[in-house]
Amino acid sequence: MALQTFEWKDKPALIEHLFPVQKISVESYKEQMAGAGKTLIGLGSYWKGRKPLILNKACILGTLLPATDQPLKDLEIFEMLMGMDSQSMQKRLQAKLPATKQEQVGEFLVLPYNEQVKGAKRAEKLPSTLYSHIWSTVNEHLGTTAYSFPELVEQMGMARFGRRPRLADVFCGSGQIPFEAARLGCDVYASDLNPIASMLTWGAFNIVGASKESHHEIDKAQKQLAEQVQKEIDELGIETDGKGWRAKVFLYCVEVKCPETGWMVPLIPSLIISQPRTGTKNNVVAKLVPVPAEERYDIEIVEWVDGRELLAFKNGTVQNGEMIHSPDGSTTYRTKISTIRGDYKEGEENGNRLRMWEKSDFIPRSDDIFQERLYCVQWIRRKETGSGDEYEFRSVTVDDLAREQKVIDFVGAHLEEWQEKGGIPDMVIEAGDKTSEPIRTRGWIHWHHLFNPRQLLVAGLVRQKMNEKLVFAMTRLVNQNSRLSRWDGNSGGGGCVQAVFDNQALNTLFNYGCRGFEQVRNLLNKTSAFSEIPKVAIDVFPRLAKEIETENDIYITDPPYGDAVKYEEITEFFIAWLRKNPPEEFAHWTLDSRRALAIKGEDEDFRRGMVASYRRMAEMMPDNGIQVLMFTHQSGAIWADMANIIWASGLQVTAAWYVVTETDSALRQGANVKGTILLVLRKRHQELTTFRDELGWEIEDVVRDQVESLVGLDKSVRAQGAEGLYSDADLQMAGYAAALKVLTAYSSIDGKNMVTEAEAPRQKDGKTFVDELIEFAVQTAVQFLVPVGFEKGEWQNLAAVERFYLKMAEMEYQGSKTLDNYQNFAKAFKVRNFDQLMSDAYKANSARLKLSAEFRGGMMSGDAEIAGTPLRALLYAIYEVGREIEVEDVLLHLMENCPNYLSNKPILAKMADYLAEKRESLKATKSFRPGTEVSAARILAEAIRNQRL
Ligand SMILES: C[S@@+](CC[C@H](N)C(=O)[O-])C[C@H]1O[C@@H](n2cnc3c(N)ncnc32)[C@H](O)[C@@H]1O
Repeated sequence: MALQTFEWKDKPALIEHLFPVQKISVESYKEQMAGAGKTLIGLGSYWKGRKPLILNKACILGTLLPATDQPLKDLEIFEMLMGMDSQSMQKRLQAKLPATKQEQVGEFLVLPYNEQVKGAKRAEKLPSTLYSHIWSTVNEHLGTTAYSFPELVEQMGMARFGRRPRLADVFCGSGQIPFEAARLGCDVYASDLNPIASMLTWGAFNIVGASKESHHEIDKAQKQLAEQVQKEIDELGIETDGKGWRAKVFLYCVEVKCPETGWMVPLIPSLIISQPRTGTKNNVVAKLVPVPAEERYDIEIVEWVDGRELLAFKNGTVQNGEMIHSPDGSTTYRTKISTIRGDYKEGEENGNRLRMWEKSDFIPRSDDIFQERLYCVQWIRRKETGSGDEYEFRSVTVDDLAREQKVIDFVGAHLEEWQEKGGIPDMVIEAGDKTSEPIRTRGWIHWHHLFNPRQLLVAGLVRQKMNEKLVFAMTRLVNQNSRLSRWDGNSGGGGCVQAVFDNQALNTLFNYGCRGFEQVRNLLNKTSAFSEIPKVAIDVFPRLAKEIETENDIYITDPPYGDAVKYEEITEFFIAWLRKNPPEEFAHWTLDSRRALAIKGEDEDFRRGMVASYRRMAEMMPDNGIQVLMFTHQSGAIWADMANIIWASGLQVTAAWYVVTETDSALRQGANVKGTILLVLRKRHQELTTFRDELGWEIEDVVRDQVESLVGLDKSVRAQGAEGLYSDADLQMAGYAAALKVLTAYSSIDGKNMVTEAEAPRQKDGKTFVDELIEFAVQTAVQFLVPVGFEKGEWQNLAAVERFYLKMAEMEYQGSKTLDNYQNFAKAFKVRNFDQLMSDAYKANSARLKLSAEFRGGMMSGDAEIAGTPLRALLYAIYEVGREIEVEDVLLHLMENCPNYLSNKPILAKMADYLAEKRESLKATKSFRPGTEVSAARILAEAIRNQRL
């Protein structure tokens, strides 16, 4: 019988019971690594921190699908819908492997899942036939009659909410979540405080998700735009040398007067202009040729410099914040840039002698401290014979300077009018964390000061012809062509001009690259990815999260928790270009970053902003509505913060999951490795009351249930020959989740109203009632996770640091080696200096514990957490056995080193056995030889047990 409307009204959602986080992590990671291959990235690579579409898909489906009494079947259906089942994987592998290598598909299919994914295409890259095999099985299990995602989603929506599901993301950023929702067939509401975010989201629906015909039209319009601007530039004659070459890149540098010599010195950090990684000969350098009569340097460009000579050009005239030059080649003059700038400090105020540029300025005035100079041009033309282009770097000529003047004159003549009409920004830069840098280091106080005359000219011409469909071409252009665009001489084609936002700051540069139109055309012309969105209702605009006015069934949000990216500042770089006379579609939007209203940081304001937003979402959600709140796992305080926010918003946690989404390069950057936590939330309907004493039992029960159900499912899956679903870290997370789940279900604990408690201001460094509760809950949860082989009482008697070490040995045995795991567990076990226990050889993604031989005699006593513990004594004994010291002597030392040796004897033997077992299967590498450790631990365990006293 067909599914009835509201038949699933009160059914728990799949994501509240199971979620194959390991596989989803692998898929998410693959998408994050795809770089330019990400579906929405073409609209704006400057937007950082995009949540992977595949993760969003998993969350959306997870909130709609029901959890039935057949979890294995539920899982099978979910994996099919995700393109993660073996038949889909086969298709994905076939699609990636070349025709000649199709026989390898079978070989891939027996590898672990992450290896399969490496060799396969992402599911979203395949046509809908990827799913052709799944529908009958899906329909049979769910009672649906769907043959596509929109059909399935609509039917599931009817069964739950009595309508096509409405999904909202009120912190939509670049639109990754709502785009995926619309693509699957939900009606969506997407908003963000930031207009650039809203614009990117609009683009996701209306450019990437457009129909095929509109897509063609957009491509055509972009092409036309490029042609028109090219024509105007050609007419001006500012980018050609008259001999068939076109300018590819212009290189500019700052030039200053040396206070010691009076010479004008170009500030160029490295005089190597081009050093392509391939080949050793086509290197290009800038030679500074002193002109004593005029007290300045000529800059001569030399091509084909031999690799060996290159070294002499590596260091230019700015090194470590100092200007360095030598007019006669023997005396070197050094002056701090800060001195040149005239930095001073008066009382609290820092300042310098730079003149603040005015609205009419676009080049330095002749008496400004920082001048600007064109010092090299890279030219390009079609090869006369053969195919492709050839290029060369040349010194600046008199003709070049004449062309520069032409550009300056042209911009000078039009600036005021263009600014008036909005073709060039006239917006003032508001000081801020990131936005103060251009003001402080250059005196640039208007956004257009970040562009030189050539850049203003091209962007201005493009801007005049822009409409909402071309706005992305426009923002791509300004991101790639500004005074903040770094010249990178190491990439192909002799080098390339990098984007302003290849980091998340607004760093000013001493030298930079300016693209000739040759290099702009491709930015304007770019065809975006294409993935048509089915006919669904879509709302998108800039709005505060707490101002949402429509009811939605599902909320999936990724709020700005302790966000390192200052979207509210850096996006003003783009807002400046759109603000006046905006494209019609955005004309009624507030084109302002509304910095003051952005939720940011981690303090009181943050909590208040979050509570206002989530409370409103809870209000605008039916009683059976569901939410997924994503956040990055950063600090220990986060659990209490989240509990507070959830309590105060009238919501409660029903499940939590941990997904690793960070890319490899992010892993390498620092020790703070991050994953994403997903909290599943429902409205808190009842007013339940409890007491702390009772909470302990309840938390234990819930943790046990949750862990057992996860472990049970894991076992069943393994029994079928498949890989496990969960690692220990996931179980750990389940522990935290259970804690939150129990706590947030109550509105009153120990007679305290939790909503009021949650809203109480946090005392500096003081612990709130909520902090204490969370701590208590988490401890209860973690302690429940006793490793196999230990009795509960025994385990609890160990010191935290011992439990941590032993637990992590088990994790290593399970193949886990990311540093964030150690961090998470260290927090849970309250181990302060866990790095003392880590092998020196560790890296963020191949971390491991020290073996006994790496501890040697260290940390036996003193203030290290492990000092003086039975485990420390045991490790020392293992080390000694490994060094072939007589076992009898080793035991004597052990008796001396281990406190209460007699009563600790059984646990010592147990720990030795345990460590031997956990390390047995570890593979040896050059720096890591567990073999000795294993046999020594075994010998010792035996010896302890047989010892007669
Ligand atoms: C972490 S980002 C979301 C990223 C997004 N999920 C993606 O994949 O691109 C958080 C967003 O919250 C927005 N934001 C900050 N404060 C806000 C507020 N009070 N109301 C609405 N949006 C806000 C920021 O502009 C930012 O785009």
